[in-house]
Amino acid sequence: MNQIKQQIDALREELNQHNYNYYVLSTPTISDFDFDRKLKELTDLEIQYPEYFDPNSPTQRVGSDINKSFNQVVHKYPMLSLGNTYTEEEITDFYNRVKKGLNDDFEIVCELKYDGTSISLTYINGVLTQAVTRGDGVQGDDVTANVRTIRSIPLRLHGTDYPAEFEIRGEIVMPWSVFDQINKERAEQEEALFANPRNAGSGTLKQQDPKIVAARKLDSYLYFMLGENLPTDGHYENLMKAREWGFKISDATKKCKTLDEIFAYIHYWDTERKNLPVATDGIVLKVNSLSQQRNLGYTSKFPRWAIAFKFQAEKAVTTLESVSYQVGRTGAVTPVANLKPVKLSGTTVKRASLYNEDYINLLDLHINDQVYVEKGGEIIPKITEVDLSKRNVFDEKVEFIKNCPECGAPLVKDEGEAIYYCPNDTACPPQIKGRIEHFLTRKAMNIAGGSETVEHLYNAGYIHNIADLYTLKWQDVSRLERWAEKSAKNLIDSIHASVSVPYERVLYALGIRYVGETVAKKLALAFPNIDLLEAASVEELVQVDEIGDRIAQSIVKYFSKDANMEVVNKLREFGIQFELSETIIAQRTDKLKGLSIVISGTFEKHSRDEYKAMIEQNGGKNSGSISSKTNYVLAGDNMGPAKLEKAESLGVKIIDEEEFLKMLD
Ligand code: IVH
Repeated sequence: MNQIKQQIDALREELNQHNYNYYVLSTPTISDFDFDRKLKELTDLEIQYPEYFDPNSPTQRVGSDINKSFNQVVHKYPMLSLGNTYTEEEITDFYNRVKKGLNDDFEIVCELKYDGTSISLTYINGVLTQAVTRGDGVQGDDVTANVRTIRSIPLRLHGTDYPAEFEIRGEIVMPWSVFDQINKERAEQEEALFANPRNAGSGTLKQQDPKIVAARKLDSYLYFMLGENLPTDGHYENLMKAREWGFKISDATKKCKTLDEIFAYIHYWDTERKNLPVATDGIVLKVNSLSQQRNLGYTSKFPRWAIAFKFQAEKAVTTLESVSYQVGRTGAVTPVANLKPVKLSGTTVKRASLYNEDYINLLDLHINDQVYVEKGGEIIPKITEVDLSKRNVFDEKVEFIKNCPECGAPLVKDEGEAIYYCPNDTACPPQIKGRIEHFLTRKAMNIAGGSETVEHLYNAGYIHNIADLYTLKWQDVSRLERWAEKSAKNLIDSIHASVSVPYERVLYALGIRYVGETVAKKLALAFPNIDLLEAASVEELVQVDEIGDRIAQSIVKYFSKDANMEVVNKLREFGIQFELSETIIAQRTDKLKGLSIVISGTFEKHSRDEYKAMIEQNGGKNSGSISSKTNYVLAGDNMGPAKLEKAESLGVKIIDEEEFLKMLD
């Protein structure tokens, strides 16, 4: 083997080991910095020597470029689910049925029931070859490219004593920390929140772009091995082997003999599970011996050798005292239930989310109702049910407010939307303060201050809009109560420094509804200065990739308001960046003007994202699907057969990397 290949292999092996230490054992032995350095070294070598490409290289964990709708794969062994039980009596019945059925000694393996998306992984000669979702149990989606990005799933197994071919099944989960972060970001963009980590995780797994999957940091727990030549007759022992090969097997997995041991396990985990980094919704009991499992067999739906016990969602009953309404920075009005304080899973609950008017109507909520609150998968408790038998005839029905609770303006609701807005964006205090707070954030103008700073400065009458920040003097700020000279100076310094924040971030910072970071970047490229953006019509705006009607209308509306234009013009006077930087502009051309190009497959010279950026930088439009309007398909390896057929049937020209790059040169 040549020296380069050896170097590549050594790096891959070393990085795989570090990934395993970090993601499975949770005990890293290398600094992030050194890890990134080695990963970069490997990436560079792989780019330089593409003949050594390997889909199982640790560099592929960041998400390969393949973009296709998922192929359906028929499961070699159907993916069954389990019978559910909710009481200890049912567990006792299960145990006795097993005892009677076997008429011999047996062991029960107790496991946590992870609340995620089930997955079946196939390994051939120690290499991950396929990952398929449960689907309907008979066939599921091939999500291999996405699953490769999950760091705790080994792409190559450790050791040598694994069967030549086997399947291992388990659950893909989204850790609470990731779920919280994603929902926080979605809330900032006023996008619909994920209800629980399971939905967020399965949504992520079905993403067409593995890079998004990689960024969302999913995790996995494996709990079921299938194949012809498994190492032992014990389910538990096989899992321990799987752990040696590199799989993440829950530490909570335990062998029990008696019902008492099983109940102790259930009681322990019913409370202890709250300290786990991922969601669990019950316990699974399995007969350990595989031959005994075969003896017991299956009913028409479930195995007779296993059963699930579901934890009770924690519920409490309390009184609905009132409903209040919060106004966000974009004017969105959110109803909140004020409850008589009640204990629920260790905390006192006083408020519950009511989401929107439709949810209130669905519950047919009345003041003084006895309501059930649950903490299920959500962090903010929610009202799940009303005890109608306790309702008093005189109790007043909750009617969603008609006017803004902060400024009195009549609320408005767009066709087909669930959320009411206060339209008085220029004079409604929480909207003004919220917009200024957003302007300060790190991803926006990165100014040293948060909600408290804004509250002080607003209440003192110093700031009424984002432009006012640039007229602040540290001497004035330091005169305010609780402001030291040093923090006042820091604030002013960071305000002054923000004049060099690039145009795309300024666009995001303006806080135009639906214009998040990504949209802002796209807008900045398509409309390289704010005058062009201001002059753009809805029709022109929707020409830009990923900008739909809703965003386009919001942008046009923003610039149509005098108050907003006044702020923009003031910011301009203060020297805020309102055009794309020279270097980015210098790279822009019109070479692909008017051309709509679809990218498909994997590439060698540049990544998909790079090609996308090149198309946009050269005036073209990158669109996701082939239609009669498509001018070219930029095709790499592994272009999906459906796409190829469609392109051919529509007579769309297919070009490769070389030809595309020639068009630009
Ligand atoms: S065993 C034939 N073990 O719960 C047995 N399932 O209701 C197959 N689940 O579809 C499943 N944790 O998605 C098993 N430790 C565990 C589990 C588990 C979560 C999920 C799985 C399954 C469903 C059954």
